[in-house]
Amino acid sequence: MKKPAKTDFDIHPVLNRRYSPRTFEDRMIEEDKLDRIFEAARWAPSSLNDQPWHILVGVKGLNDVYDKIFSSLLEFNQIWARLAPVLVVMVADKISRKTNKTNHVYLYDTGQAAAHLSMQAMAEDVFVHQMGGFDKDKLISTFSIPERFEPVTAIAMGYAGKLENLPEKFQEMEKAERTRKSQKEFVFRDGWGK
Ligand SMILES: Cc1cc2nc3c(=O)[nH]c(=O)nc-3n(C[C@H](O)[C@H](O)[C@H](O)COP(=O)(O)O)c2cc1C
Repeated sequence: MKKPAKTDFDIHPVLNRRYSPRTFEDRMIEEDKLDRIFEAARWAPSSLNDQPWHILVGVKGLNDVYDKIFSSLLEFNQIWARLAPVLVVMVADKISRKTNKTNHVYLYDTGQAAAHLSMQAMAEDVFVHQMGGFDKDKLISTFSIPERFEPVTAIAMGYAGKLENLPEKFQEMEKAERTRKSQKEFVFRDGWGK
């Protein structure tokens, strides 16, 4: 399924093609693609080059990591994310490696790494769907993640699949039009709010 952005101005084709699908093909992502996708996250910029992100990777059928990530997802997300061959979690270090103090931009930096990951994925024809809907505490205890780290987002990854793989309610969501605010609502070229 294709759901290109209906943009007011031309944007890069990778950005234009990206959307967050809820249906995935039953097909594993090739290892070399995964390497490049995580490499893109590696080369994201960060404050003080602190690189606070860590990525827990669960590959379906490989070991128990996938199942552990899956079991931390909220039920709404489990219904569709079960189709994804790879589930990852972006985990951020709250403490700066450089200053040993609280890193006030750990979420920003980790989000930026996730954005890099998703753009490289799209360039590889792999779609990602990020999820805030997971049980953080469950994930922390399941993986014994130390206190200084915080799971930020779970991400389902794979090749976009068929609508029929989804329950009807989710098919409707999948077909829904993608919308955005207009630029004038958030781009202020003439002072705040203008
Ligand atoms: C941080 C973050 C958390 C999200 N959490 C969820 C989620 O828990 N479940 C879900 O179905 N979609 C989730 N989404 C997907 C958004 O709903 C989606 O990106 C948004 O509606 C725009 O659609 P698009 O990505 O197809 O352009 C999340 C996206 C982000 C970036």
